[in-house]
Amino acid sequence: MSKIKILPHDELCPEGIVIENLPNETICEAALRNGVKIEHACEMSAACTTCHIVVRRGFESLDEASDIEEDLLDKAWGLEQTSRLSCQAIPKDQDLEIEVPKYNINMVSENH
Ligand code: FES
Repeated sequence: MSKIKILPHDELCPEGIVIENLPNETICEAALRNGVKIEHACEMSAACTTCHIVVRRGFESLDEASDIEEDLLDKAWGLEQTSRLSCQAIPKDQDLEIEVPKYNINMVSENH
């Protein structure tokens, strides 16, 4: 079981939080289970980008993003080298530190 440190975010977790990740659980699922309401407008089907996060530590330990995820990420607000869709990224045995960007664009409802 790994830990995920979520850096402070004004609305979602002003103090920041450290959560535990269950086996085969995505970052988004782990955050929601712990009360951090990361947006997930497409119900985690890799069709929006509202669950975009930036991995600040432990990025290399994650599986590579699929082509679909990469294509969506290209349209995400505030894209960085270590950006991922949290509904697609499953932590392994390494602890992670992540940041939820200030804005996340919904590719579904905004018709991009
Ligand atoms: S919830 Fe839509 S891409 Fe992750």
